[in-house]
Amino acid sequence: MTGHEPDTTAVTSGRDGSGSLAPALWTSTTWQTSGVPASRDAALAVHQTGNYARYANPTVRAFEQAIAELEGAEDALAFSSGMGAIASTVLALCSTGDHIVAQQQVYGGTHAFLTGPCARLGIEVTFVDGTAPGAFAAAVRPGRTMLVLAETPSNPRLGLVDLDEIGAIRGPYTVVDSTLATPLGASPLRHGASLVLHSATKGIAGHNDAMLGVVAGEKELVDALWGYAVLHGATASPYDAHNALRGIRTLAVRHDRQCESALAIARFLESRAEVSAVHHPGLASHPQHALASAQMRRFGSMLSFELRGGAAAAERLVSQLSLIRPAVSLGGPETLICHPASSTHVGLDVEGRALAGATDGLLRLSTGLEAASDLVADLASAL
Ligand SMILES: Cc1ncc(COP(=O)(O)O)c(C=O)c1O
Repeated sequence: MTGHEPDTTAVTSGRDGSGSLAPALWTSTTWQTSGVPASRDAALAVHQTGNYARYANPTVRAFEQAIAELEGAEDALAFSSGMGAIASTVLALCSTGDHIVAQQQVYGGTHAFLTGPCARLGIEVTFVDGTAPGAFAAAVRPGRTMLVLAETPSNPRLGLVDLDEIGAIRGPYTVVDSTLATPLGASPLRHGASLVLHSATKGIAGHNDAMLGVVAGEKELVDALWGYAVLHGATASPYDAHNALRGIRTLAVRHDRQCESALAIARFLESRAEVSAVHHPGLASHPQHALASAQMRRFGSMLSFELRGGAAAAERLVSQLSLIRPAVSLGGPETLICHPASSTHVGLDVEGRALAGATDGLLRLSTGLEAASDLVADLASAL
């Protein structure tokens, strides 16, 4: 811990000590040793470089160390995607007969994993309203609940989970998907969560050119995850880790610009008669704005809004935009719009989509780096 602001840590973290300002890209999958005794030591080592890249790769390790420093964690473990991180973490920690408490309002892939493979393996999941005070703790079954899984802000409706409440839960491991906040927007570990998780594909890498996930926490727990991860094999690529490390260096300025523009767009949409609701934690009208102010350093680049005309109006609006692009994903330089009910949450049934907040008229916007005035003008003309 350096005592610096997180924005500074984004620049200083994950250095390999070689003096090279750009991270080295280690493409090797395997390392030569001095002989059998050294190979044996390497095979028995935990999360150490110098043996085989599925066990550890120096470029990936530098990325992991940067995330650990940013999150105030002892260590971190990278995966080939955010879903790789989620699936591996759940399967590393839970067995048949265990119980998970998760929130209804999560990324569609997380929901599909919990209701599909987890159910098939006999891991029971109770879904709660993550925005309801005390909901997670009330659903914990002492002795049976192995994992509490929260996502804040949540995708796509930008609901918040109270991080102090998650941190106060005793017994199960508590895991917070903090993808939409980025490491510079919130720090779940400082509130007492066991693990913080990111799809680093999003804001962390930040340029739509890396597919990556990461989990950070106490070394003992990260080592335990590593023991499973090397068998699961959702291993992070050094190329993607390299891109993500470069992304981390500029995360603070990119995120500042995106957050500022997101708030400006949210305020503009609130003023429009065609829009019945706007969801963004930075708006005074957000029902959890006080909580957002207390636990977030930045309110994030994401917003969603509900059109009065439902699905038809949403489709029409998207077709009229010229600058904002229809695409999934988030956190990159380009402003992206998506209709969660027919993209990120299309796998859910009508009731599931309603519980997740992916209603027919909802559009989700990931604010990029274009001038906010151009983005507002594009929306105004399309509306
Ligand atoms: C909040 C959240 N968590 C996890 C994921 C999964 O990440 P990835 O696409 O990198 O597997 C996503 C993807 O959109 C997400 O939005």
